[in-house]
Amino acid sequence: MVLRFEDITHENYHECIDLEVFPEQKDCFYFRSSKPNMMSLAEAYVFGNNSKVLAIYDDDTMVGAMFYNLPPGPEGRAWLVRFMVDRRYQGKGHGRKALAMLIERVKGEGAKTLSLCYEPHNKVGEKLYLGMGFRPTGEESEGQIVARIDLGASHP
Ligand SMILES: CC(C)(COP(=O)(O)OP(=O)(O)OC[C@H]1O[C@@H](n2cnc3c(N)ncnc32)[C@H](O)[C@@H]1OP(=O)(O)O)[C@@H](O)C(=O)NCCC(=O)NCCS
Repeated sequence: MVLRFEDITHENYHECIDLEVFPEQKDCFYFRSSKPNMMSLAEAYVFGNNSKVLAIYDDDTMVGAMFYNLPPGPEGRAWLVRFMVDRRYQGKGHGRKALAMLIERVKGEGAKTLSLCYEPHNKVGEKLYLGMGFRPTGEESEGQIVARIDLGASHP
């Protein structure tokens, strides 16, 4: 497996929009849309804040997408807004590897923390995030648990 990020361009945006999660994974604030990555592209455009949507490739296959932002300013608070691996490619280690790559990327862009949200019932997401060093902040957003990693700290 050789994962890499690619920007979304006129050549790959249809493929990105067509990626899907399992029906039971749509019971989640950020995945209620039938086209979650189309929402990411629209929200990145509308909300700004240094938003970026990245396609995740394993060799030549697009396996998922990440939408994050890093608002300008000295706080360096990056947010992973939406993160998905297509249902055909889940459970093969892509999610863990892509998250580790994103952590390194936002660190390089000056982020001091990376935050995200997950539904209390999303046990796969929770296990992945806690295993990577994210910790719940005690806050909630749209009924979801907010978790954060300090990028000054080491992580597994
Ligand atoms: C969360 C998500 C991105 C993980 O992607 P993935 O490529 O399947 O993740 P990985 O293969 O790297 O697995 C990560 C961990 O979850 C576990 N896992 C993955 N799929 C699982 C499943 N269906 N059941 C139980 N555990 C599972 C893996 O065993 C692994 O744990 P380990 O490293 O301790 O062995 C993917 O499940 C997804 O897109 N879910 C729907 C959208 C979502 O929930 N996004 C995140 C919340 S906003």
